[in-house]
Amino acid sequence: MLVICKHCKTSYRIPDGLTRIAFPCKRCQAEVSYSADEENSAEAPCAKDMSVQRRAANNPTTPELIAGIPVEGNSMQTNHPYLAWLEVNLGAIGRNLDLVRGLCPKSQILAIVKTNAYGFGVKEVSDYLFSRGIRDFALAKPYEALLVKRANPDANVLLMGPSSECLRELVEAKVQLACFSNSNRDAIAKHAASSGVKVQVQVKVDTGVHRLGVRHEHAADFIVETARNPNLELKAAYSTFSEVKEVDRLQWRRLCEIREAVEARGVNTAWHIASSASILRYPQSHCEFVRAGIILYGHYPNPEEHELKRVNLEPAMTMHARVIQVKPLHKGEGVSYRLTYTAPEDHKVALIVFGGLDGFMGKKVILGGRFCEVIGNLTQNHAMIHVAPEMDVKEGDLVTMMGCQDGLEISPAELARDSNLSIYSVHARISDKMPRIYFDD
Ligand SMILES: Cc1ncc(COP(=O)(O)O)c(C=O)c1O
Repeated sequence: MLVICKHCKTSYRIPDGLTRIAFPCKRCQAEVSYSADEENSAEAPCAKDMSVQRRAANNPTTPELIAGIPVEGNSMQTNHPYLAWLEVNLGAIGRNLDLVRGLCPKSQILAIVKTNAYGFGVKEVSDYLFSRGIRDFALAKPYEALLVKRANPDANVLLMGPSSECLRELVEAKVQLACFSNSNRDAIAKHAASSGVKVQVQVKVDTGVHRLGVRHEHAADFIVETARNPNLELKAAYSTFSEVKEVDRLQWRRLCEIREAVEARGVNTAWHIASSASILRYPQSHCEFVRAGIILYGHYPNPEEHELKRVNLEPAMTMHARVIQVKPLHKGEGVSYRLTYTAPEDHKVALIVFGGLDGFMGKKVILGGRFCEVIGNLTQNHAMIHVAPEMDVKEGDLVTMMGCQDGLEISPAELARDSNLSIYSVHARISDKMPRIYFDD
């Protein structure tokens, strides 16, 4: 549910089940309040104290006091020149991290910050997570692994993909490398021997996804050989679930059998297989490590988990622009390339500089206190927005494409559903060139 500051119109997300809240607005300090008991409750004033009351899940009459409420990015950032930008709330990532820690109390968290931290910014996110106590990171490309390791030399940085493109640099930087085949392990060991360093490695086991990894039938031997190689230091063995329930069960059994066989031969190491879906779904699969990816950024890995909402994740990114031009569109006039949209009546059109190449994918935006439709063909760098004749929209007005504004919300999950994309793809599509503004509420 969203609650809006009546003074400056900043929107706040409040967790389900709260019956009464009051707190100072982060932007203007006016009191923002909500009481379920009052009529028009979303905007009604309530108690002046800072307490937040939540109905206890199994006893609706017992209020449970909690200290504060999470805030979704609301374009709180006004002191910048951008006409289109993303806001990343590191505080939300921190709260998601705390939820993961609660779900996996016995495991260490290996943060997945690959692909520019899913578009959230690899440098900023890994630095922030490091400051929050995370010491293990995993990435897919050598240049990103080098970036994270060089920025945080005390971190353990695992390159999950191949290392052959720049083995020397990776070894010098002390990045942990994945061993997933005889040839890639031999190349790493040979380089280690010639440079006189012991390289830290993790063995990737293919328990059934048939992607990268040593096939499960050969995995125990491979792990033992790796552990006994004098030029390598085995730090962990890991696998990936297929996220098909029955196959996951089989994969887990295989991994347990491999572990038993390896340990029976005197090799003890750390293990990991759980990523976001299994962090949420299979506590028994949380080994020494869990690999937390999309969950840290505030998203459930699939629509099923989104429905179940086992924990209250907070999306950590919002997407905004400013109107750069508004003009009238007369009945019968078309808009954008090939004029596929024709105005059914006189109205206005507003332009923003956030198009398809920038990562825009929605069919509507929030502008002037309501949802407005995107009209005409989306172009590479522009989107055109329908503005009703009575609306007073002007150049410079704030537009939200993803996030909250004026008590309305376009959630990333909704964008994924409407665009027929996974939540991973929604973020992957956003251009790395878009300015990102970081804050920690
Ligand atoms: C090997 C591996 N582990 C873990 C993850 C993280 O997955 P998720 O984002 O679902 O947590 C990924 C992401 O693609 C991955 O490739």
